[in-house]
Amino acid sequence: MKRMNRFEGKTVVLTGGGDMGLAAAERFLEEGANLVLADYSREVLDFCAAALRHKGAELSRMRTVLCDVRRIEDCRRVAELAKEEFDRVDVLVTTAGILKHSPVEEMAEEDWQNVLDINLTGTFHCVKAMVPVMKTQRYGRIVLISSLGGRKGRPGVAVNYAASKAGVVGLTMALAEELGAWNITVNSIAPGPLRGKMAESQSPETRARLNAGIPLGRIGEVCEIANAIAFLASDESAWTTGEVLDINGGLQY
Ligand SMILES: NC(=O)c1ccc[n+]([C@@H]2O[C@H](COP(=O)([O-])OP(=O)(O)OC[C@H]3O[C@@H](n4cnc5c(N)ncnc54)[C@H](O)[C@@H]3O)[C@@H](O)[C@H]2O)c1
Repeated sequence: MKRMNRFEGKTVVLTGGGDMGLAAAERFLEEGANLVLADYSREVLDFCAAALRHKGAELSRMRTVLCDVRRIEDCRRVAELAKEEFDRVDVLVTTAGILKHSPVEEMAEEDWQNVLDINLTGTFHCVKAMVPVMKTQRYGRIVLISSLGGRKGRPGVAVNYAASKAGVVGLTMALAEELGAWNITVNSIAPGPLRGKMAESQSPETRARLNAGIPLGRIGEVCEIANAIAFLASDESAWTTGEVLDINGGLQY
């Protein structure tokens, strides 16, 4: 498919080099972006670089950086690197996230805290680190990844994950209100079940329950989320802010 060139001259900071992060990275590079890809696993970053090279992506416009989103100083370092290397941060996309499901009465305090620390506080840290740069530019596109699990109760989806992802929705709405005056848009995507490692980490029974009854008759592909990320990160969505885009094959309704 012939791609557009919506990100030429733009710098994108993308957290998480998992299935969705890799699909989004490929799209941004294809469309001309400078890309800073951040993950807390060197192995993940190296895998992404190798996969993108294999697909013929232009890696001279990409930097990878180790960053644990639980640490604000790591996120600040990512912002500094983007400024040093590419002079700007136009787009922030946060796909870094984990799940650790268990029934509420069995949930360890540590599992509650870690999921909240990565999925919600980690998202806050990334925004906090990038916004000063975006404000000086009077330009920014922020795309935060929530989940269908943060929009409604789902079979097997635990309270820690649901609360963290519902928190991302709240963050999106509050930030849109706060940052609009600087021409910074803030939107969120809430995907339903997707093919990939995260789904495969769950038991076949949980997966079957999560995937049941999808009106479009199949689970989603990460490239279908990358399409929406690219739209919300581009100027095509210049008058869209505070929005949560539910992409779930019709499962929500
Ligand atoms: N896959 C799905 O079915 C699905 C559905 C709805 C929402 N989501 C959300 O989409 C996002 C991406 O999902 P995915 O399928 O790519 O998952 P994934 O597990 O393939 O990738 C997640 C990435 O986040 C990184 N990460 C985790 N903790 C981190 C930390 N503290 N600092 C930096 N990086 C960290 C991991 O190393 C991994 O590379 C997640 O936020 C997830 O909750 C996924």
